[in-house]
Amino acid sequence: MAKYTVVTMPGDGIGNQVLPEALRLLKAVGFDADYVHADIGWECWRNEGNALPERTVSLLGRHKLGLFGAITSKPKKEAEAELTPELKGKGYSYFSPIVTMRQRFHLDTCIRPCISFPGNPLNFIRKKPAGGFAEPLVNVVVFRQNTEGLYAGVEWTNPPDAVRAALAMHPKFKPFAGTPGPDLAISVRIITRAAAHKICKAAFEWAKKYGYKSVTTCEKPNVLRETSGMMEEEAKAVAKDYPEIVLWSTNIDAQTMWLTKNPEDYGVVVASNLFGDVISDAFAGLIGGLGFAASGNIGNEVAVFEPTHGSAPKYAELDPPIVNPIAMFLSAVMLLEHVDETEKAGRIRDAIAAVVKEGKVRTYDMMRIAGGAKAIGQGAASTVQMTDAVLAKVEASGDAACAVLGRESA
Ligand code: NAI
Ligand code: MG
Repeated sequence: MAKYTVVTMPGDGIGNQVLPEALRLLKAVGFDADYVHADIGWECWRNEGNALPERTVSLLGRHKLGLFGAITSKPKKEAEAELTPELKGKGYSYFSPIVTMRQRFHLDTCIRPCISFPGNPLNFIRKKPAGGFAEPLVNVVVFRQNTEGLYAGVEWTNPPDAVRAALAMHPKFKPFAGTPGPDLAISVRIITRAAAHKICKAAFEWAKKYGYKSVTTCEKPNVLRETSGMMEEEAKAVAKDYPEIVLWSTNIDAQTMWLTKNPEDYGVVVASNLFGDVISDAFAGLIGGLGFAASGNIGNEVAVFEPTHGSAPKYAELDPPIVNPIAMFLSAVMLLEHVDETEKAGRIRDAIAAVVKEGKVRTYDMMRIAGGAKAIGQGAASTVQMTDAVLAKVEASGDAACAVLGRESA
């Protein structure tokens, strides 16, 4: 039996194209794992009324380690319209399986590294005052609280009377008190002190472990006084234990501006759920966008790694596939690091870095051309060709290591 069992959940669309490519790399570096497929996503919703079936929950609970591709999700009414006829009108409601998974397993810490690879034509550049361009490398790791905040799912259109009555106790509810129920939608932003503390602590620990000089909060405590206020309070409390690391408090709106001016100023960034989602996409845009954005959803027992992109339905049927698998590869690298297989993780990361730097093999997004069937004819690498290129570097690094040790390569 292998040392690890990884639950693989390719999901929908391009998730099915990129996840198997990542497995080729994990196998090439000799990761001692078995892989168990688990269903998730749109077909599960349509046929079973549940995008995250219990059999998948139980596999994750058993094996604790997951690799996830992407899912398709659609607004409430469209989702209900696509249910198989037998399930229609039976009270099924669509919930995002990835949000549900995070809540079921308390995957409360989301880590999203946004680190540029030198030579990536999608990297952030800045015009120099005297002419020419600077390309400061971005080295940011976003810590996003993953289970609470506006994603906690406590929301209503037409809230029940008891909720309205409770809200009416708040003086600021007065302007809304006369709004008819069906015209009133409410989402509750829930922050608990324990979770705020935990995400801030995780951010500072990461900064300490990897030598980052600062931790930056991205909240809005001047307006969201209670919820963002609690995040800020906990960040300040945690910071006391890390005198060598600077705490910068920024507002989410200002921060989305600052990061597009001076992204190299930032190190570890921490935020509540929605703001973390927003800010991590913003930083990801500076290091190559969705083709490079990986993430880990970490709980005390279970951890699931995924690219942050979705199922990109418009490219899902293309043969050969054209999407960039690097975000998925980096998610696999994070999985390896999570289980302390740092040498194997490093080999894949170095191989990706080498391919990006050489610039001979680039998927369409890296060439800044339109995606679609024509991209390959315009010189873009396919998904599989990108994997082949990275795999060749991985194998070369294995050969080099064996040569140093005087062994034959396996
Ligand atoms: P998306 O991330 O699927 O794609 C947006 C666009 O980004 C694509 O059309 C493509 O141009 C580009 N793109 C995405 N991944 C790429 C890759 N690996 N390489 C190159 N280009 C890439 O977001 P979209 O179109 O808003 O959503 C499509 C579906 O995915 C929706 O049903 C949405 O709900 C779902 N979704 C799922 C997520 C998840 O599984 N975690 C996250 C985001 C969206
Ligand atoms: Mg997102």
